[in-house]
Amino acid sequence: MAVITVKDKEFTTLLTNDQIAEQIDRIAEAINTDYKDKNPLFLPVLNGSFMFASELFKRLTINTEISFIKLASYKGSSQGKVNSIIGLSETIYNRDIIVLEDIIDSGNTMSVLLEELESHFPSSIRLAALLYKPDAFKKDFKIDYTCFDIPDKFVIGFGLDYDGLGRNLTDVYSINSQL
Ligand code: IMP
Ligand code: MG
Repeated sequence: MAVITVKDKEFTTLLTNDQIAEQIDRIAEAINTDYKDKNPLFLPVLNGSFMFASELFKRLTINTEISFIKLASYKGSSQGKVNSIIGLSETIYNRDIIVLEDIIDSGNTMSVLLEELESHFPSSIRLAALLYKPDAFKKDFKIDYTCFDIPDKFVIGFGLDYDGLGRNLTDVYSINSQL
């Protein structure tokens, strides 16, 4: 267990790289089985999921493609925040889609994303998340592949950041006191 400081906060090891690798092995095997004769298109959500996507993708033995997307939010003309997907250059119509997310917290971000993806009529959509905070989750969509259920505390590492920092850490750390 290591204690580290990132910017102005202290964090302690929550998941080691070996534990993470073991869980990514497990879901990769499940995906290789479930999509055996398919050609799914992976859509990792930037920025946080780049490391998870890379590690998962290396373990896939099926025919598969990948295209990174990002959710941009900007001020709409009349009613507050509008979200739109940027980087969706591949056609998802009639494709088997697997969305990759670093963490599902409240689920708000992902529910917006899933709704927009569904409007392009893919033949299926599944969701894989490295981390899931069941106590913070407020939505009802299904997370098909999860590596870890974690407590409702702020975490960094393995792609996840605190104020832009900590994405390069190979373990996942949780904050010592809540933000
Ligand atoms: P949600 O909309 O509440 O599910 O939050 C989703 C997004 O917030 C994730 O894609 C992350 O970018 C960010 N996020 C949520 N919880 C954490 C955390 O503990 N550490 C770092 N980023 C987080
Ligand atoms: Mg994210």
